[in-house]
Amino acid sequence: IAAQNSDYDQPYRPQVHFSPAENWTNDPNGLVFFQGEYHLFFQYNPYGDQWGHMSWGHAVSTDLLHWHELPVAIPEHDNTMIFTGSVVVDHGNTSGFCTHGDCLVAIYTGHTQTPEGIRQTQNLAVSLDKGRNWAQYPGNPVLDLHLADFRDPSVSWDPIARHWVMAVSLPKEHKIRFYSSSNLKAWTQLSDFGPTGDINGDWECPDLLQIPSSNGAKSIWALKVGLNPGAPQGGSGEQYFLGDFDGKTFRQSRLRGSYGWTNYGKDDYCAISYNGLPKDQKPVLIGWMSNWQYAAQIPTTPWRGQMSIPRRLSFINDAAGLALKQEPIIAPLRGKNYEISALATNTSALYGSGHTIQPPFEIRIHFGHPVESVFGLKIYSDQQHWTEVAFDTGKKEFYIDRTHSGAAISPEFRVRTKAPLVTTRPYDLTLIVDRSSVEAFAQDGTIAMTDLVFPVANNLQIQIFPDDAKPIESEGQVWELKSIW
Ligand code: FRU
Repeated sequence: IAAQNSDYDQPYRPQVHFSPAENWTNDPNGLVFFQGEYHLFFQYNPYGDQWGHMSWGHAVSTDLLHWHELPVAIPEHDNTMIFTGSVVVDHGNTSGFCTHGDCLVAIYTGHTQTPEGIRQTQNLAVSLDKGRNWAQYPGNPVLDLHLADFRDPSVSWDPIARHWVMAVSLPKEHKIRFYSSSNLKAWTQLSDFGPTGDINGDWECPDLLQIPSSNGAKSIWALKVGLNPGAPQGGSGEQYFLGDFDGKTFRQSRLRGSYGWTNYGKDDYCAISYNGLPKDQKPVLIGWMSNWQYAAQIPTTPWRGQMSIPRRLSFINDAAGLALKQEPIIAPLRGKNYEISALATNTSALYGSGHTIQPPFEIRIHFGHPVESVFGLKIYSDQQHWTEVAFDTGKKEFYIDRTHSGAAISPEFRVRTKAPLVTTRPYDLTLIVDRSSVEAFAQDGTIAMTDLVFPVANNLQIQIFPDDAKPIESEGQVWELKSIW
């Protein structure tokens, strides 16, 4: 059923981020570009707005921004829920499933209730009609270690070894296991990565990807691993390792900066990258914009859950070391543009005395060095409610403070999320403000911070603080963003 625009106009309904018309979603699944369409599958409960009956919902886009929701792609069946996984384009019919030209193969975790308890296994489904209809492989499962926790396969084609590579998680052992296959059906174990980094919770949702340098140097490999609970910012979060994958083994680089957090906010989890992108495109990552600590309490109806803005990945290697760099895909939605000085007021003004703007909008600002050590923006929704996004050069932190942002849906929601600041990198900031979120990209994209917020009103006012904080000349812009619906 094609949704009407009015279906996407409720309070807090994201206007530039994907959310399903109704019901629950968590992780993005099976991100793949195929025959001109970007597919977004997602963990979905077709029967309600809480986690359960996990199935793969489905949406398609031609620009990664405007989404068209389609019927459920892979429903739960028998006693098996369809957990997170990936989709590949089977060029050359390695699986033998394709009947005319290339086809799509999904590799997902089946979560099955058996008389002996829970069993998680890796399974296949195939689509011969551009992802609309899926058939289960009768030989499922293709990988079964007889474990209750073994999930979230990330599969991609290794063009050098000419076989498929899977990264899949052993959550309780804090290991990512690599396998290879020539046909997606028979898998050979290659190696294990971990335990290392942060192991304070389950390891989930791995993603192995090759990322280009932002300045033409040699590319590097990244392994991204979800952690839940126990992330430093609380609840679920994502760490990354930069290094090398030689076709068999992932080795973390010894260089400074080879370990970090993909997102320093609380609300970006289980992000995965696109398969099948044209060769010259940088990898694109989309995550689930929520946190397992309070995802079930998000005050939205008739849907619950949304996706992050897609971001293109590269990496930098500067005096401070390596870092992942993320650039949001947003420019095609830009509408009316203002110099920030025409819209924002300074900190001594209270809400109500200046211009207001309604989300969605984008701010880009590059600060010069103010006298005071803390400088940034406050976004007010009335005199008592604001979200603060700022640099603190004293504490060497970049932060978003949402303790006064509006509805605090649980005690864990009232937080200030922070990222380490590198004083030799620029104090620049891109901020995407939607009806229920702020996503920040700071310091040349080396810090990404995504936080949900539930402001008390839709008329927002931007303030720059302190009084002497100023953008470097002409580097403070605001764009109204066009709704994707
Ligand atoms: C992570 C996760 C995955 C699992 C899915 C189930 O958010 O727990 O590990 O496959 O959600 O919905």
